[in-house]
Amino acid sequence: MKRFDGRRVLVTGGGRGIGRAVALRLASEGAQVVAVDVDPDGLSETARLGDVHTLVGDVSSESSVSDFVSSALDHLGGLDVLVNNAAVLHAAHTHSTPLDLWDRIIAVNLTGLFLVTRAALPSLVETGNGVVVTIGSTAGSFTHPYLSAYAATKGGVQAFTRAVAAEYAHQGLRAVTIQPAGIDTGMPPRVGETLPEGADIMLLARNLSLLTGGALVPADRVAGVVAMVASDDGRHITGTEIRVDGGAHA
Ligand SMILES: NC(=O)c1ccc[n+]([C@@H]2O[C@H](COP(=O)([O-])OP(=O)(O)OC[C@H]3O[C@@H](n4cnc5c(N)ncnc54)[C@H](O)[C@@H]3O)[C@@H](O)[C@H]2O)c1
Repeated sequence: MKRFDGRRVLVTGGGRGIGRAVALRLASEGAQVVAVDVDPDGLSETARLGDVHTLVGDVSSESSVSDFVSSALDHLGGLDVLVNNAAVLHAAHTHSTPLDLWDRIIAVNLTGLFLVTRAALPSLVETGNGVVVTIGSTAGSFTHPYLSAYAATKGGVQAFTRAVAAEYAHQGLRAVTIQPAGIDTGMPPRVGETLPEGADIMLLARNLSLLTGGALVPADRVAGVVAMVASDDGRHITGTEIRVDGGAHA
């Protein structure tokens, strides 16, 4: 008997990085998993690596969300776990961040979270023990200069997740934010390598993992924590954030 036998899971941004690692981990623990991404090639690779059903979709589009959530529900026959993982990151000086960049980051990271969660909630509530795990960031709680748009969405992720946790707790639903940092993924651009001109790198020094001396770690470090939270092992955890940052913010 595996921890996720009989559990049905939807993961957004499952074509790469943390989302792929989560999809593969939960599938390996017995879950039926659907992974969604804007990137069909990434999804093909995820499906090649594990028993994951894939759907192309865009979390920032209301019609796309409606289509892929309903396809996922048809495929799975219901939903027990939603992993909101898809996000984009762009580093920039706040004073020169174009409005369309700000709008895009909000649309994917925050409006996307709302759209997918809203569409999935009726099915998650119906199971009586649904779980929403959202991949936030330490940027939601701790200072991340040159990432003000991204950080604003991640603060919003936490507030949204706590509200959902309280609102649906009586229906058995749990909602938790995971705050990773320093994970080795394709998330472009890698902040340290793509800081805007004139940025002070020392302002980011406090954000390095103590356990690894700043070295990045594989995405399965996050996937294992998501698996714990989404399983019955995490059944008394809700309305909170869990940092997975190697002590960067200890
Ligand atoms: N890598 C890190 O160190 C780190 C640190 C803190 C937080 N995070 C968070 O972890 C999550 C995953 O990040 P990652 O590092 O794996 O990034 P990544 O860029 O490797 O993967 C993100 C995936 O989301 C997909 N995606 C982007 N926009 C989408 C959209 N509109 N609809 C559907 N899919 C979309 C991408 O195609 C990609 O496959 C994000 O929420 C990110 O903010 C990562």
